[in-house]
Amino acid sequence: MSSQGSGHHDGRQRTIRAYHERTKHHLDRYARSLGYLDWANQPDPFRRYEGAPISRLPLPSEEGGPSYDALFEAPPPPEPLDADWVSRLFYYSLALSAWKRIRDRQGRVLDRWSLRVNPSSGNLHPTEAYLIAGAVPGLSEEGGVWHYAPEIHGLEQLRTLSLGPPPDCVLLGLTSIHWREAWKYGERAFRYSQLDLGHAVGAVALAARSLGWRARLDDSASTRTLAKLLGIDRQHGVEAERAGCLLVLTPPDRTGSLGVDLAALAGSGWRGEPNRLSPDHHPWPVIDEVEEATESPGLIHPEPSVSGPAPRLGDRGLSAWRIIRRRRSAVAMDAMTHISRDAFFRLLLRVVPAATPAPFDTLPWRPWVSLLLFVHRVEGLERGIYALVRHPAHDGSLRRSLRPDFLWRRPEGCPDALPLYLLQAGDARGVARTIACHQEIASDGVFAVAMLAAFDAALASGGAAMYRRLFWEAGLVGQVLYLEAEAAGIRATGIGCFFDDALHELAGIAETSWQSLYHFTLGGALEDPRLETAEAYAHLAGEF
Ligand SMILES: Cc1cc2nc3c(=O)[nH]c(=O)nc-3n(C[C@H](O)[C@H](O)[C@H](O)COP(=O)(O)O)c2cc1C
Repeated sequence: MSSQGSGHHDGRQRTIRAYHERTKHHLDRYARSLGYLDWANQPDPFRRYEGAPISRLPLPSEEGGPSYDALFEAPPPPEPLDADWVSRLFYYSLALSAWKRIRDRQGRVLDRWSLRVNPSSGNLHPTEAYLIAGAVPGLSEEGGVWHYAPEIHGLEQLRTLSLGPPPDCVLLGLTSIHWREAWKYGERAFRYSQLDLGHAVGAVALAARSLGWRARLDDSASTRTLAKLLGIDRQHGVEAERAGCLLVLTPPDRTGSLGVDLAALAGSGWRGEPNRLSPDHHPWPVIDEVEEATESPGLIHPEPSVSGPAPRLGDRGLSAWRIIRRRRSAVAMDAMTHISRDAFFRLLLRVVPAATPAPFDTLPWRPWVSLLLFVHRVEGLERGIYALVRHPAHDGSLRRSLRPDFLWRRPEGCPDALPLYLLQAGDARGVARTIACHQEIASDGVFAVAMLAAFDAALASGGAAMYRRLFWEAGLVGQVLYLEAEAAGIRATGIGCFFDDALHELAGIAETSWQSLYHFTLGGALEDPRLETAEAYAHLAGEF
């Protein structure tokens, strides 16, 4: 699939496997990090390009727009590309969504932080976004490369392009600043940056669908070409942004070639200097090593992405934009809320690509991630550990890799389109909590999730670059779980902290055929009454 020589190939695979092993959390030992928070060097969550011309985008409303279920079943007709379109694309994917504030007993503000439409491990937001477009009515008469600045909901123009993408196509590049995550999480941070990037892919894909467009991840360009295209190859040092992926956004009926030669778009004439994020840094060399080992030479995936007819689960009349903008993580679960069996089945159908292709059709590879579920509070469904087989090719391999005494029994009333199996009946709350670094959100919810990736098979198929892509896929699944939780009237939380091999042992996984890359929990949220909330852009009016 890729053109690397096999010796080099083996070296890269060794590097990522060594990284993967050393960044596992164990019951008696966490992956390496500083072990304390170096507040003096807390990274700025907002990248800005000093000196680049800024275009502020209008602030759209949450009213109107398609229904949430239509995003998956019947997206609206494509809206024309203009400044409003660009504004809404970002407002429903990567913009700020709220401010939070906490006071001490004397009423003094102790801390203030913003939240975004896309979630992020530790709210550290390593992901940056770049727009590459031709002329956009209301924004620019010539093509260009812009950096999206969520703090002001604006675009910083870094370059002009004499010949940009055609008017029915925009490109969106995503990058990661690993330092933002490494500052807090040390060596495991690379994994978190990749999961966050997967969430961002999902956020952009669903925002595009709400405007009647579709997003596809174009894996043909190498990581280095992408870095040049976005101008981040000019950055060096610990804070440097690293190229992630390129999304191609078009109306859904557009076929044929892109009409742009990506390599030819790279060029000179950059404006703006990236701001410094921290006064000082602690280096984490293994992150640079795994970053380099997983760089893509440009991939062509032999097994295509999923496609198929739109599902028909019915429309609940919920507003897509409200669900998207009001998504939040639960910081605590109430240990009470139940959902019905039908609501549970419906929610899970949204993460099975054969049943609901979007937004998984954004990824050009066939799914590699399946789910283990720890079901605690679903009415009419036995408590226990379940498997959700997200692709038929996983079935045999999972049955061979997981514990031989697992039941593989279909639950009563389960729709034919939902490949769900009871593996082991019983109360799994304690084990779910323990495995999630003892976090109670994993036991106090409706159900918790471990995302298993077909690790060996994916790396054999696509080479070392697949390592990142497995996390992207897991992040994308997570993004749908977040939104589905909101739509079902509950909440979700991503769980990056879990004891990797404790989970593998519980599931009976020896070796690395399947590896757990991301955990999740969904349930009835408890609000923290001490927090004050303000509108996303209240700060621009000096109001928060
Ligand atoms: C990859 C990832 C890992 C996360 N891991 C945890 C976790 O282990 N525990 C937790 O309480 N929250 C976790 N979160 C939730 C984040 O803390 C949360 O997304 C962030 O604070 C922003 O808040 P919001 O999701 O409400 O916008 C995780 C989120 C992501 C995206």
